[in-house]
Amino acid sequence: MYLPAEDTYLLAECALQYRGRWALEIGVGSGAVVRALAENFENVAGSDIDWGSLRHCRAQEPRVMLACCDAASAFCGTFDLIVSNPPYLPDDEKTDATVHGGPSGVETTVRFVQSALPLLAKDGRMLVVVSSLADQSALDSFVKKERLKIKVIKEKALFFERLSVVELTF
Ligand SMILES: C[S@@+](CC[C@H](N)C(=O)[O-])C[C@H]1O[C@@H](n2cnc3c(N)ncnc32)[C@H](O)[C@@H]1O
Repeated sequence: MYLPAEDTYLLAECALQYRGRWALEIGVGSGAVVRALAENFENVAGSDIDWGSLRHCRAQEPRVMLACCDAASAFCGTFDLIVSNPPYLPDDEKTDATVHGGPSGVETTVRFVQSALPLLAKDGRMLVVVSSLADQSALDSFVKKERLKIKVIKEKALFFERLSVVELTF
């Protein structure tokens, strides 16, 4: 299970700035971010491929609807906010699914966004953590192709990387 780290806290802090009816987190891990979402959203859902993380999350936050699935594939309906701190470290082998996001680091991020878009309300928002350790060009191309708007809403410089939370809208 991915233990809460700087990226977790950065996303949780951003998530607290939003409110609405339905929120979804892709890749819940220990549940720190879904707990933040549950403060201001009436209904919160989450997914992960790691069964242990889901069990831990369920114990911490029983109100959250959880699914063991790839990205957002188990969900239907419309969400006001979708958030994710995806695995983003570059690695050809994807040896650790909690942190490795593909050869350039961003492949899993693109898949998560792709999976989330059909569920996002017209005026909904998606928050995604991106890292300077990953090559963002595939995400930039996807955003351009889908004509999404993207803005950086929070950044944090660590000694070895710069973390950003970007907001995607239609
Ligand atoms: C960087 S961790 C973030 C965990 C937590 N959200 C946090 O911020 O601490 C990424 C999470 O995504 C999950 N994950 C990896 N691949 C996934 C997939 N295809 N579908 C859903 N979750 C996935 C991992 O198991 C892990 O819990």
